[in-house]
Amino acid sequence: MNPQAPIGVFDSGLGGLSVLAEIRQVLPLEQLIYVADSAYVPYGDKSTEEIIERSIVISEFLLDQGVKALVVACNTATAAAIHVLRERWPNLICVGMEPAVKPAARVSKTGKVGVLATTGTLRSAKFAALLDQFSAQVEVHTQPCPGLVELIEAGELNGSLTRELLASYVEPLLQAQCDTLILGCTHYPFIKPLLRTLLPAQIMIIDTGAAVARRLQQQLTTHELLAKSNVQADQFYTSGNIEAMQQAMSALWPHKVLVTQLLR
Ligand code: SIN
Repeated sequence: MNPQAPIGVFDSGLGGLSVLAEIRQVLPLEQLIYVADSAYVPYGDKSTEEIIERSIVISEFLLDQGVKALVVACNTATAAAIHVLRERWPNLICVGMEPAVKPAARVSKTGKVGVLATTGTLRSAKFAALLDQFSAQVEVHTQPCPGLVELIEAGELNGSLTRELLASYVEPLLQAQCDTLILGCTHYPFIKPLLRTLLPAQIMIIDTGAAVARRLQQQLTTHELLAKSNVQADQFYTSGNIEAMQQAMSALWPHKVLVTQLLR
């Protein structure tokens, strides 16, 4: 495998850009190829079978582009499909998301933490196993957040609709005395500033994007696959509408990019 090969990153839509930003920071020389499966967003209410199918289709596309590693920058797709991708491509570096229950358990003073995530993530066997692992250390309260991904995709990062919906999701977690909230969906970091305004100052917010970027860096280092120089520009694909993605990205991504259609 060539260390100069790109890294493939995908999400149901634009949420994975929050992870891409962390990867860009930790690994400035890597060429990144990002796929937003916007024709199928959100994944949170799709069946496990459909999410697995989409994850395979996009991973195959990224492998056709010659990627040396795959990042599933979507909690819902990780929960539903990462084991299938790892079985299918056992030699490929494949990094996924996981709600940060472990770090939250470490910092929580009340011993009660809240997880904001999609219905798909919260109903998954992978999440149930994570809860089992930490059930003796911390009380975990879960909150599915239907509708949030759609609002974020629509660029509604600060509007009254997003504020009201988010407030209604946070309220039960505060009532339950959670002092640490875990962002269990890669879209949610984009509304972290709004979330902050809804929370008392002592409530902590934990996100996993930076940890995932570091895990990717470790794996590339172990396999001697770190790029030595950056020669190629990053690439962005969508299975949905190009103009819509281009427009939405202007609010979420600091660089001007050209989005290409993914016909799959
Ligand atoms: C979704 O598209 O519904 C969810 C994205 C995520 O879980 O990160």
